[in-house]
Amino acid sequence: MRHVLGSEQFCREELDKLFKLTDHIRENERSYSSAIADKVVATIFYEPSTRTRLSFEAAILRLGGKNISTENALEMSSAIKGETLEDTIRVMDAYSDCIVMRHPDKDSAERAAKVSNAPILNAGAGSGEHPTQALLDTYTIYKNKGRLDNISVAILGDLLYGRTIHSLIKMLSLYENVTIYGLSIPQLALGQEYIDYITERGTKYIKVDKITDLPKDLDVIYQTRTQTERFEKEGIKVEEIVIDKTAMDHFGDDLIVLHPLPRRHEICTEVDNDPRAKYFEQSLNGMYVRMGLLYEVLVNGK
Ligand code: NCD
Repeated sequence: MRHVLGSEQFCREELDKLFKLTDHIRENERSYSSAIADKVVATIFYEPSTRTRLSFEAAILRLGGKNISTENALEMSSAIKGETLEDTIRVMDAYSDCIVMRHPDKDSAERAAKVSNAPILNAGAGSGEHPTQALLDTYTIYKNKGRLDNISVAILGDLLYGRTIHSLIKMLSLYENVTIYGLSIPQLALGQEYIDYITERGTKYIKVDKITDLPKDLDVIYQTRTQTERFEKEGIKVEEIVIDKTAMDHFGDDLIVLHPLPRRHEICTEVDNDPRAKYFEQSLNGMYVRMGLLYEVLVNGK
């Protein structure tokens, strides 16, 4: 594995290998504590981040690697002086062994990869993709359900601009007999290109209008934040679909509720103590999956 640009590049065997490696690192963490001791990893974030940047940085440090970082690269790097992304990446490539990057442009990861020998790990590209989030989401579903074939997943919230959704449903379409239910306001519905992509791969896509239209034996709810920062100017009126205790009562015990976080009010805090709420476990899994990914790219990939 060299660059990680989008979910499309993965096959089932690679995911299986990565999840096994992640588990092995998790169970034997001390033996990995200097696994990448000779590596410098750059984390360059042109958009806000809490979990993605800090879980990557924690993963780098826990594997004994070194980190150089800019957390507000739009203002605090030479981007503000007019430097192109390509020029910045060329320089970072010389300074580091791997570049973790988040950027507002959908094609930013591909552009960076064109000029970088160091692997580029796409940590979120505008409203396009967020493949490392899909890795930890898929891993979390696998850990909780024990399978990835024969699952039903409802995606809720902002299906139009939510990059985590785009990467996740592409990844899940690798598996057999997957049904995705989409629930959003019409203005934030899933783009046709994503529906086409997954249906061509045998995944069913079913639009629903309300939570009670979802099957009671649903496996996963994947709730998302409305990405207001991406459409403020368009004046879309947002009525959020909220998961509260009453909504949870509709479903059985085998459901799990995920959210990439940060959440605002789309999952009420009263749901946090429900054993089916797995979003904090999910964000912890992110650190371990990113340890696995860094190991795969920097040690196995060499
Ligand atoms: C998401 C993102 O940045 O796309 N957060 C994350 O990486 N965990 C979701 C969001 O910002 O709503």
